[in-house]
Amino acid sequence: MTPTVKAAASLTDPMGGGATAGPTASDGSPLPDRTLPSFERDVQRMFTHIAGGYEWFDHVASLGNDVLWRPRALWDLDRFRRPGPVSRVLDIGCGTGELARLVARHYGSAYVLGADFTRAMLENAARRSVARPEHARLDYARATALKLPFADGTFDLVTNAFVARNLSDLAVAFREVHRVLRPGGVFLTLEITEPASPAVNRLFHAYFDRVVPWLGGAVGSAGPYRYLPQSLRSLPDRGSFLALLAQNGFPRAATRPQSAGIVTTFLAEAGDRLHENR
Ligand SMILES: C[S@@+](CC[C@H](N)C(=O)[O-])C[C@H]1O[C@@H](n2cnc3c(N)ncnc32)[C@H](O)[C@@H]1O
Repeated sequence: MTPTVKAAASLTDPMGGGATAGPTASDGSPLPDRTLPSFERDVQRMFTHIAGGYEWFDHVASLGNDVLWRPRALWDLDRFRRPGPVSRVLDIGCGTGELARLVARHYGSAYVLGADFTRAMLENAARRSVARPEHARLDYARATALKLPFADGTFDLVTNAFVARNLSDLAVAFREVHRVLRPGGVFLTLEITEPASPAVNRLFHAYFDRVVPWLGGAVGSAGPYRYLPQSLRSLPDRGSFLALLAQNGFPRAATRPQSAGIVTTFLAEAGDRLHENR
């Protein structure tokens, strides 16, 4: 049942083995800047900084809605995918493991691997998972989404929640996901998106661009929660996201907006193997 997973020691370590200084907000907390070559390392520093309070803050900042978004995304997934058994699932950017645990409960006989490049988030995930009934089918490993250390065609499903906005190169990540999925396997992305309605959009931005960074500042994380709305602006709109998926091996794809489009489930089925320019 267990997929071929390279030993954690062989994974690339984009942090280069040690914490270094990087861009910060006025309270000294990390504030990643996508234009800098250190962006990936700075994203790791940021998630290391917020790992301890991540789930708590996420529930508060989303006004509790995040606990509905992940199950709904799996509901969307089951309606999109073709019927068949699910035995191996990879959750990329698993963070503290909220989606990975849910996936393991949802697909009761599947082996689920949560992968993330931030050690502190993985440690948190492992701690939170140890007492769960699904623990025996759940593993965590350190890996970057841009170079996945798994053999071609290993997984039936690849999921990720609230990760896409943090990736320096979405096309590279999509090709990696395509490679590790079996043909016909499904890729689920859950991400914050721009609501289509102008009225909802105005409310959303008032909250997301002002209130959330203010809340972040109140808990010593001004940088991470200023970065959050900035990161949304780097995400392609829904149509461009689907086009990018199609260009990178996912010809059948769909979007399912949730909460008036504040978040969207993107679903994509892996087409034939990609051969060009690997
Ligand atoms: C906002 S958190 C989401 C965590 C979790 N998926 C959830 O639903 O709460 C984003 C996670 O993605 C991870 N991440 C960001 N970029 C990554 C990359 N290139 N490779 C692997 N993990 C990445 C971060 O370390 C962080 O744990």
